[in-house]
Amino acid sequence: MTGIAVLGSTNMDLVAYVDRAPERGQTVTGREFRTVPGGKGANQAVAAARAGGDVVMIGAVGNDEYGHRLRENLEHSGVDTDLLHTAEGPSGTAHIVVDAKGSNAIVVIPGANGVVTALGPGEIAAIAAADLLLLQLELPLSAVIEAARAGHAQGVRVLLTPSPVQQLSDELLDCVDLLIPNEHEAAELSGHTEPHAAAEVLLSHVPAVVITLGSKGCLYAARGSTAVHFPAPAVTAVDTTGAGDTFVGALAVAIGEGRPVPQAVAWASAAAALCVQKPGASTSMPYRSEIDAA
Ligand code: RIB
Repeated sequence: MTGIAVLGSTNMDLVAYVDRAPERGQTVTGREFRTVPGGKGANQAVAAARAGGDVVMIGAVGNDEYGHRLRENLEHSGVDTDLLHTAEGPSGTAHIVVDAKGSNAIVVIPGANGVVTALGPGEIAAIAAADLLLLQLELPLSAVIEAARAGHAQGVRVLLTPSPVQQLSDELLDCVDLLIPNEHEAAELSGHTEPHAAAEVLLSHVPAVVITLGSKGCLYAARGSTAVHFPAPAVTAVDTTGAGDTFVGALAVAIGEGRPVPQAVAWASAAAALCVQKPGASTSMPYRSEIDAA
């Protein structure tokens, strides 16, 4: 089994489903409200575990009802939560509006995620023991950089989802093997809205990049080879929340199993396409048998 360490956020997603998202100053009536376990880190952990990885989650939940549910949700999917700490105060929350096309807008309140500023010996050992390390940017940057350096120093492959997007230091990027931004993040990081142009700029910082393009699929580019576009399976999306995280979790498992990149990307795209057809983040993530069947 592929050993995967995830350092990242756990959030309770407070999701309002609406026909049309409100504009500034506007009030709209929604269709439905749900609370769903999420957080980019926890989502990637659940996706990787369901896809067949041996996953350990590093982060923190709050000492509240949401914290219990978030931990339970990870354990239910087989994620090791021994290094998921319980901090004083509230768990992280994500306030999400999903429109009739399944598109979302998200505000995250970090809560307990904000206390993860540094790693202890247990966290460093778990990272060193893994095949791959998955990182995003919903925890304090000091912890993300420390984890990336620890993984890189031990030859662990480091995958970074640069979300929420921010300018990244060379100290972090020098440790990254594969950068996985969405098209908006790629544009902000590179200064180019066209994905090939964005990928070219990003490749001057990291050896390989996958730019996810929503229903248009994704673009894979690596130093020294021609960029390849992979189309996405045609499906009707009801909620795209967590689709990118599903892609990353499944991709990590496939890469860890030594599958060639085109095969790994196609498999991860199938996983993400399954995710968008159901509401919610971690609740909509497919198991390995479902991905294989798709
Ligand atoms: O990537 C989707 C996730 O972003 C949501 O689950 C939400 O918690 C935010 O972190």
